[in-house]
Amino acid sequence: MSAQAPACQLLERQKDNYAALWVVGPPVDSWLIDQSAGVVSGDFDALREWQAKGKQARTPFDLAVGEPFGKEIVLFWPKAHQLGIWWLKWLCEQLPEGTPIEIVGEHQGGIKRVPKMLEELGMPWDKRDNARRCSLFTTHTAALDLASGNEASGNEASESAWQTIESSGLTLVSHPGVFGHGKVDEGTLLLLESIENSLPKKPLKVLDMGCGDGIISAWLAQRGHHVTAVDVSAFAVEACKRTLAANGLEGRVLCSDVFSALEGEQFDWIVSNPPFHKERDISYGPSQRLISTAPEHLNAGGRLIVVANGFLPYPDHLQRAFQDFQTLADNRRFKVYGAIKSQR
Ligand SMILES: C[S@@+](CC[C@H](N)C(=O)[O-])C[C@H]1O[C@@H](n2cnc3c(N)ncnc32)[C@H](O)[C@@H]1O
Repeated sequence: MSAQAPACQLLERQKDNYAALWVVGPPVDSWLIDQSAGVVSGDFDALREWQAKGKQARTPFDLAVGEPFGKEIVLFWPKAHQLGIWWLKWLCEQLPEGTPIEIVGEHQGGIKRVPKMLEELGMPWDKRDNARRCSLFTTHTAALDLASGNEASGNEASESAWQTIESSGLTLVSHPGVFGHGKVDEGTLLLLESIENSLPKKPLKVLDMGCGDGIISAWLAQRGHHVTAVDVSAFAVEACKRTLAANGLEGRVLCSDVFSALEGEQFDWIVSNPPFHKERDISYGPSQRLISTAPEHLNAGGRLIVVANGFLPYPDHLQRAFQDFQTLADNRRFKVYGAIKSQR
């Protein structure tokens, strides 16, 4: 089998150099899975694919600071540049100083900015290869300097990437790579406004599907509801946990591909600002699965509430899954839809 993703095709030319490769933040590529001993990723989809082939798979939050995981490391440069910088700092904290690292990525994904950024972090670099509109750089881990001029210790450098903002009476904690990092989505605010008055006072069992930084979960938990929050991104799961903690709130937060971690569970309400992108590409897969399987995960009389850009085809999906739905709010850019599972 040959590599499919362009960055993996570039690595394929170097494969004789690797004996026990660990890949960090990679795309899902069957050749790469076969070639590698393990993966560290924030993407639950990728972790599952590696695990399914008997490989080791960890999120960065599963590993204690300094816990070793591999010696031959390739970091796949993400489209979110700040997330790439975070991965590098994390690798410097996690691995002994001087551990070689390779960094690969697509030119259109910003890999050409990497040498300048390595210089800013005081890390040496060299270019190893260039093909398929991708580049491969080598560097090694270094002791990072914090702004104070002191050497960073523990996980101080990677911790500094977490940001907090205040919105809707809540402290929201976010991280590069988490949806809308450091901003609040206008659609989410419309959704919260539109359910404020219809939300029952008695505590509901509520699911926040695609929780991101946890704004919806924290808002519902603050009103006394029992919240389960899920997201496919381990960074979002960690952000949501931190948001709940920052507001003194409780909730269950899980990594899940839509309902994958919630088999057999039912809720009174499912509330979501569902994803319609994977990286920069439009993808309706998860939102369609959310709507079509929501009735199985709702109690009789339970509600699904979703917000969407006006142009998205959710009304058709809702009509098919629930036979009826209402538009609860419409501000021209976003619409909030509600659908009720019949009592029978
Ligand atoms: C539009 S954002 C909403 C984030 C947050 N709830 C808010 O309102 O700001 C959609 C979220 O869905 C997550 N997501 C994407 N695909 C998913 C999937 N297959 N299963 C669960 N969550 C997913 C994304 O990581 C992202 O955090």
